[in-house]
Amino acid sequence: MTDQAGRTERRQVTVPAVRASKRSAGSAPIVMITAYDFPGAAAVDAAGADIVLVGDSLAMTVLGHQDTLSVSVEEMAHHVRAVARAQPKALLVADLPWMSYHLGTKEALKNAARLIKAGAKAVKLEGGRNRTGVIEALSAAEIPAMGHLGLTPQSVNVFGGFKVQARGVGAAEELARDAAALEAAGCFSIVLEGIPDVVAADVTRTLDIPTIGIGAGVHCDGQVLVYHDLLGMSLGLRPKFVRRYANLQEAAVEALKEFCTDVREGRFPSADESYHQGV
Ligand code: KIV
Repeated sequence: MTDQAGRTERRQVTVPAVRASKRSAGSAPIVMITAYDFPGAAAVDAAGADIVLVGDSLAMTVLGHQDTLSVSVEEMAHHVRAVARAQPKALLVADLPWMSYHLGTKEALKNAARLIKAGAKAVKLEGGRNRTGVIEALSAAEIPAMGHLGLTPQSVNVFGGFKVQARGVGAAEELARDAAALEAAGCFSIVLEGIPDVVAADVTRTLDIPTIGIGAGVHCDGQVLVYHDLLGMSLGLRPKFVRRYANLQEAAVEALKEFCTDVREGRFPSADESYHQGV
């Protein structure tokens, strides 16, 4: 069956459905893709992704910043509203941007509520044991939370760049403790970014909630990629975990060049593309 937009109808993906999606229990891998606007969300949903994430990667992919630190709650909410207008069957998760949950639980709740009122069904936040208070407060306010560990981009200045984390035994153990703490605090899933595959596999095995990997190997309960990265629309460096499925930026430049040439050489518009008196 198809809906009015020609999409195959499918069930609404919910937080409990994602929470229950462990590959060890026979679930299919979770697919999460970012989107930042109405057509992007419509494409992600039509492709059948389980989760559409309005990530704070918005700062880099769409707004042109060098890192994710500059995006505000207001900007995030603006893009969440656009994504929500696509009425995705995929679960709509929105990132809490840097400094929106670091000034105490009251401030964090207020900012999370802005994203929920904009259309998100859950929020994602970075960090481990230092975030359990906020996650418990979100839970008490009926706001589902997704965790994010490893190469957390909001910590870029602490890490000294976008560097793979948890390579050593001690750091891997710390990450595992953080993951257990996030689950105990009420997270319904955790993104694992930029960590060795064996570390991600261990964490995935010990948790009841699903892990969603990005640069974390194949053993996670799901995978996430950034829309602009997988469609070949991102202009910066390409980390090795990014698989490009298209080269849309190049295709866009070629098409736009053709239009420029057609206008300059008088080939656009044609008679068919013009209105005529009395017709
Ligand atoms: O902001 C983002 O796009 C993310 C994903 C990479 C997980 O956090």
